[in-house]
Amino acid sequence: MAGFDMVVRGGTVVTNSEVFAADIGVTDGRITAIGVGLSGGQEVDATGLLVLPGGVDTHCHIEQLQDGGGADEESWTTGSTACLAGGTTSVVTFSTQFKGGGILEPLAEYRRRAASAMVDYSFHQIITDATDSVIWDEIPKVVESGVRSLKVFLTYDALALDDRAYLRVLAAARRAGALVTVHCENHDAIGWRTEALLAAGHTAPKFHAWSRPRMIEREATHRAIALAEMVDQPIQVFHVSCSEVAEEIARARHRGLKVWGETCPQYVVLTAGDMDRPGFEGAKFMCSPAPRNPADQLALWQDIRRGTLDIISSDHSGWCYDGTRGKRAHGSDANFRDIPNGVPGLAARLPIIFSEGVVGGHIDLPHFARLIAGNPAKLFGLPGKGAIAPGYDADLVLWDPTKKTTLTNAHMQHAIDYTPYEGLEVTGWPTTTIRRGTVVMRDGKVQAEPGTGRFLARGPYDMIRPTGTLPDGFDASVFA
Ligand code: URP
Ligand code: ZN
Ligand code: ZN
Repeated sequence: MAGFDMVVRGGTVVTNSEVFAADIGVTDGRITAIGVGLSGGQEVDATGLLVLPGGVDTHCHIEQLQDGGGADEESWTTGSTACLAGGTTSVVTFSTQFKGGGILEPLAEYRRRAASAMVDYSFHQIITDATDSVIWDEIPKVVESGVRSLKVFLTYDALALDDRAYLRVLAAARRAGALVTVHCENHDAIGWRTEALLAAGHTAPKFHAWSRPRMIEREATHRAIALAEMVDQPIQVFHVSCSEVAEEIARARHRGLKVWGETCPQYVVLTAGDMDRPGFEGAKFMCSPAPRNPADQLALWQDIRRGTLDIISSDHSGWCYDGTRGKRAHGSDANFRDIPNGVPGLAARLPIIFSEGVVGGHIDLPHFARLIAGNPAKLFGLPGKGAIAPGYDADLVLWDPTKKTTLTNAHMQHAIDYTPYEGLEVTGWPTTTIRRGTVVMRDGKVQAEPGTGRFLARGPYDMIRPTGTLPDGFDASVFA
């Protein structure tokens, strides 16, 4: 077949199920052929390299608006640069509702801001205030506009839903045909422990982990699943930190429920001990749920291998260490309650998971492709994404599987002034990123134009349809 715009030649192609030597032909930004001896158009030499699907990061915070004005410190241009540097070509980030407000207006503002994106993108709509107008009027409109996932928090003062409000969102999602993603931690238990810790003078970053031990995450996950089961609404549990939380998901799956689990690089390479580094350094590792311990890291790999956790996202958070909104915004002796949660990791995701997972012997190459691209694209219904196959977008990463790198913040190419992975040695590195048939990163140099990213409108799809099984046959969701 002739007439390709681009041929990626001589690489080892890694699909979601196979590994084989082949060339890839690209026409009009799509993959049109996979075979040997292809030629035509721009030639990209992949000799000695793996050819992976472009990374799909379905949980990252980019240019997220803050109550009181402004946005977090990662803009669409810096965030996209970091993504492309690290081999990620599509993201699903967030549109936030502030309590007392609606969701249509903020979503319009997020769409406007994302006009400078250089990666393809969609949003999860965060629901913090389940008012009648949001539930009955605005959620259906948001979903109809192609934003087919809602995010709810079971903790954080400004964001948490109580169980009744969570049920209302589940029911609204069921009616509209959206997936619900859930941050599972028990808000009241965290509040109680936090007050006790602070009263005892335990204020340092390491006490962040003490304020939210694993049973707080497990309990909330169990509850989130039970309530979703009652409504028969599919959910994804975000950022699972340890195996006993994954067990809740495995049990739900065993009962035939549509419940999926995500974990993140921070839970396989960071530990609670990192929050105990000297001075205020521990703040750099603070995220929620909190990183656990080395035994948990090993157990998580088992959950990944079994498929209980089938997506690895970055949960990139745009907080600097210094800076007006950063970790040190309240000073270097701030108590842990006043330190923003979250760690940056857009560009680190693929290198860490490849190095720890594939090179570390926990997963094979197709499993890696599914975790970082295939599964997230499928679960979130991202059209044309997540696979190397004819008809899919030509989002490809050329990957040197043997290159050793000691991570520094300069590799990350984000707006954040630190990386929690500073000094971590990884094997495997992206050398070229191709987005819809255009080379957008070569040898670390990102060469995309702001505004070339596309909004990914997500229509209905089978994977997130309710199972049709209600506990007693009564569908309460029509009255929510
Ligand atoms: O600590 C975290 N994960 N911060 C980001 C917001 C969230 O909870 O996902
Ligand atoms: Zn969360
Ligand atoms: Zn998050």
